[in-house]
Amino acid sequence: VIEQVGAREILDSRGNPTVEVEVALDDGTLARAAVPSGASTGEHEAVELRDGDAARYGGKGVERAVTGVLDEIGPELVGVEAIEQRVVDQKLLDLDGTPDKSRLGANAILGTSLAVAKAAADSSGLELFRYVGGPNAHVLPVPLFNILNGGAHADNDVDVQEFMIAPIGAGSFREALRWGAEVYHTLKSVLKGRGLSTGLGDEGGFAPNLASNREALDLIALAVEKAGYRLGRDIVLGLDVAATELYENGTYTFEGSPKTAEQLAEYYAELVAAYPLVSIEDPLAENDWDGWVHLTEKLGANVQLLGDDLFVTNPERLEEGISRRAANALLVKVNQIGTLSETLDAVSLAHSHGFKTMMSHRSGETEDTTIADLVVATASGQIKAGAPARSERVAKYNQLLRIEETLGDAARYAGELAFPRYTP
Ligand code: PGA
Ligand code: ZN
Repeated sequence: VIEQVGAREILDSRGNPTVEVEVALDDGTLARAAVPSGASTGEHEAVELRDGDAARYGGKGVERAVTGVLDEIGPELVGVEAIEQRVVDQKLLDLDGTPDKSRLGANAILGTSLAVAKAAADSSGLELFRYVGGPNAHVLPVPLFNILNGGAHADNDVDVQEFMIAPIGAGSFREALRWGAEVYHTLKSVLKGRGLSTGLGDEGGFAPNLASNREALDLIALAVEKAGYRLGRDIVLGLDVAATELYENGTYTFEGSPKTAEQLAEYYAELVAAYPLVSIEDPLAENDWDGWVHLTEKLGANVQLLGDDLFVTNPERLEEGISRRAANALLVKVNQIGTLSETLDAVSLAHSHGFKTMMSHRSGETEDTTIADLVVATASGQIKAGAPARSERVAKYNQLLRIEETLGDAARYAGELAFPRYTP
């Protein structure tokens, strides 16, 4: 039974304030969850409550969200069973009372929702991945390591936000992590050797100035091969274009020139023909449904087309995508929707319609590792948590190492099965 709910303002990986919630149960269990924060956020995301007081943290303080947890959410939850996750989450929705969680803030709500789940798991003597996923939770995800950063996450002039490598050919998660780290270090020396910057973007990938997106893919391909791996077999590639950021008044500005959705679709088709690209996230903007439908028809049979800003982990937006045949996979970010129950609903809906899912961090992260447990619990098979470097990123990957070890012989690495549309 929930006895007390506490909260505080802490810092995220970008040095901005975020919310941490602590839930105490009457059996002495204490659990804590911290909330991440995006930079290239979707317009349809649940609202992150910020103080707007320019005298503190440039207006980004979260004292109002913290006060909401202490004064309103806590009193509402005291006495409720922590294992009643759906009851708890419904209470949070009712108490907030807005469709976009803007009154109490999705940050206050998510912190509470996740801390309650962690407390219930601890109190039941189960690890979080087993508590949420049940006895069949055993699939370790393919990590998509974001090793080259552009867009809103870097100060270079590369428009694609994330260039990722996915070690599908590894035999285990542990091996995938090693391959990723080796390629990351090799990429660093490739960049250095060419006099390019090895400064980092927000998610820990390198952020050199490059002339084109193809140049980024070529440098990564070179690093994969120099590190001793076969591109297209051992390691494949993924992108997050975050195209909402490139879209204005019906036109995309891409590599310096205006492009229509059809022209971009043609460009992606060329990339897919030239590189082993298995997944393209947000190839088009969040409200460009017609563009998405066209692209899905053109490339959806061979490539994972992942909706991030398009779906914002919202079951209603996902329903619309399913019925229109826009995209074929869902990016899952717990703070886009704001409760664990709604996140699990979005994942179930995706899986029941043959959509793949990828669990995701945000560009502003903390040491919280909940998403590592959730990706195993949901058998999603794919996770992106940034580069295999920097503690707020590797915290998630390190937690997956622990989970794999706990599962022992029962663990199965998703590997190639994570990307059934891809044929080398
Ligand atoms: P964000 O970026 O956390 O800044 O929104 C991540 C993404 O677009 O996937
Ligand atoms: Zn994205």
